[in-house]
Amino acid sequence: MSKIQFLNLGKQPITNNFLTEQNPINEFFYDLNIVYDENTKIVSLESFVLPEKMFNDTYAHMASMSITMRESNKILSENIIKRFNPKSVLEIGSNDGIMLENFAKQGIKHLGVDPSANVVEEAIQHGVQSIVSFFGDESSENIKVNYGTADAIISANVMCHLPDLNDIAKGAFNLLNDKGVLIFEDPYLGSMLEKVSYDQIYDEHVYIFSALSTSKIFGSHGFELINLVPQETHGGSMRYVFAKKGQRQVEPQVQAIMDHELLLRFDHSDTYSQFKENCEKSKIRLIQILEDAKKAGKSVAGYGATSKSTTILNYCGIGPDLIDFISDTTPIKQNKVTPGMHIPVQSYEYFKENIPDVIILFAWNHANEIIEKEKSSIDKSVEWVTHLPDFQLNL
Ligand code: TYD
Repeated sequence: MSKIQFLNLGKQPITNNFLTEQNPINEFFYDLNIVYDENTKIVSLESFVLPEKMFNDTYAHMASMSITMRESNKILSENIIKRFNPKSVLEIGSNDGIMLENFAKQGIKHLGVDPSANVVEEAIQHGVQSIVSFFGDESSENIKVNYGTADAIISANVMCHLPDLNDIAKGAFNLLNDKGVLIFEDPYLGSMLEKVSYDQIYDEHVYIFSALSTSKIFGSHGFELINLVPQETHGGSMRYVFAKKGQRQVEPQVQAIMDHELLLRFDHSDTYSQFKENCEKSKIRLIQILEDAKKAGKSVAGYGATSKSTTILNYCGIGPDLIDFISDTTPIKQNKVTPGMHIPVQSYEYFKENIPDVIILFAWNHANEIIEKEKSSIDKSVEWVTHLPDFQLNL
């Protein structure tokens, strides 16, 4: 058997399924088991939740809600334009057009492809040409006929959501011009292992990529990894740049990072057993912090009803008994309860009027932006915590 199961994060609900009713009957739960595949070197969910259950017309994640993401998408777009000068760009999982608007503004031919109708509508309103569709080998053929081929295919924080990577790779190869590039960035396995950020794992994040695994999978469809660029976004990500084999020069960084991954034993199961232990310790620590706060009569609120928080709350069994409410700026999440554990989600305005004694920062990947925004108005006595054992908050 090539797949080794190394972590069980328990029964989990659909991450972005914020609920309007308390304790709804029939809430969907699945077993969140994580496996390491010895053949492809990839870390993934053991079984995949049907995409239709997650990405639909009420999808709650609006990419443009975060300034950090808006800026990082702008930098990536500028970088692609400068480095590759594409005349046509396609984005897989274009959400509300946060990335492609940078190309649209420059008059570059573009097309966004996203399965969620509500976000596509937003994108079109922002002047970004977009269609409602899943991306794959079959849809690539329709896109080719109706919109033409692409010099660049981009995907930011989406590729790791797509269960059938072989189908995506085939579709991308079919649509790309010979000198074209496939560029995607996603949370990086190395960062997850180092930070113990197991909350990167949830129904939508089917894979946690590394250089070793992506080069293996996309390499088997005619692609070659030509560059790797580590990123700060999403708590530590990696940008993977692929070209058709032999079409472009391979940067030395590729070998350097692969060697580093081998040195850190990403290709050995003992690495994942250690990670499991670290997750268990993190769970015990977080519950202890919250129980101590409760015993001391302190109020506790979460900051950011992130997708990631769903994994933490359901893995640790933390509900409204330990966290009074979670603040989130996304209107579609507000006045609802979180998936699975049913903690009320309140608006940012509510949070400002009800500053708790302890804030658990679930949007820890936006820590700098958030601390900068809050530090002058929130009292120094307020305690900020995360579930990450060694995370430094610059208060
Ligand atoms: P995101 O970083 O995309 O994390 P995930 O992929 O785990 O959902 O989402 C950040 C969430 O945090 C989003 O729901 C908006 C919320 N948020 C705030 O409420 N306030 C803030 O200042 C920021 C930056 C985010």
